[in-house]
Amino acid sequence: MNLTDRVAIVTGAGQGIGEAIALRLARAGANIAVVDLNLEYAQKSAARVRETGRKSLAVRCDVSKSADVNAMRDAVLAEFGRIDILVNNAGIAGKNVPMIEIDEAEWDHIITVDLKSVYLCCRAVLPHMIERGYGKIVNVASIAGKEGNPGLVPYSTAKAGVIGLTKALAKEVVTKGVYVNAVAPAVIETPILKTLTEQQISYMTSRIPMGRVGKPEEVAAVIHFLVSDDSSFVTAQCYDVSGGRATY
Ligand SMILES: NC(=O)c1ccc[n+]([C@@H]2O[C@H](COP(=O)([O-])OP(=O)(O)OC[C@H]3O[C@@H](n4cnc5c(N)ncnc54)[C@H](O)[C@@H]3O)[C@@H](O)[C@H]2O)c1
Repeated sequence: MNLTDRVAIVTGAGQGIGEAIALRLARAGANIAVVDLNLEYAQKSAARVRETGRKSLAVRCDVSKSADVNAMRDAVLAEFGRIDILVNNAGIAGKNVPMIEIDEAEWDHIITVDLKSVYLCCRAVLPHMIERGYGKIVNVASIAGKEGNPGLVPYSTAKAGVIGLTKALAKEVVTKGVYVNAVAPAVIETPILKTLTEQQISYMTSRIPMGRVGKPEEVAAVIHFLVSDDSSFVTAQCYDVSGGRATY
């Protein structure tokens, strides 16, 4: 699972699961583009990446905006000369309310940030990956996309979309040296939980057979495998990191 001198883009890497992914891939030898809407968070994570001895670039980017995404891709290529790995991790839970209380603007916002962003980021890097005949893409979906979480309908819908995008895109590029997989975490202890009600968190945790929430590092470990050459016969898959919540 050695990633020496690979170049990885990790979106939403300013905190939480994304930060853990950035650090894990850096410790395996990769140089990291730490991408986040919040530049201050990105700079803090990028500094932590540099402490591992690897290079990092902090980029402020709203992954739901194509101009931002394309500029981010250009900045990474200008700094590192290539892109080997893309981890589409940035995401939001959105309003934690029944679907009938979600207005159209909120619906569009969640679907755009959680789903369209994955299309935009993949589209931005794919021509480069296909030209070089090498690429590893991992999309961070959610167990909500497989099971559906009440109170999080737009989020669950977007994450189901991310799983569908992963499977279809993987098959489009399967002969081009580009691998596309997803992970579906259950509840993971990160700042995103502050945006949910206690009741919502207990509901989701009660459905985890292991009876505990996960850690960001436990998600990063699975992603490390999927972006490494050890996963050389694995594409179009969705790996659960859920303490056994879904079994399909
Ligand atoms: N924590 C969980 O329980 C859990 C479970 C399943 C899936 N996930 C998914 O894992 C991913 C990371 O979640 P987390 O818990 O670390 O969240 P988090 O809120 O702790 O961190 C998300 C990061 O993404 C950034 N971000 C948000 N919108 C962005 C945008 N438009 N452009 C660029 N960056 C943006 C934020 O600034 C933040 O730094 C998300 O896709 C989330 O849906 C989380």
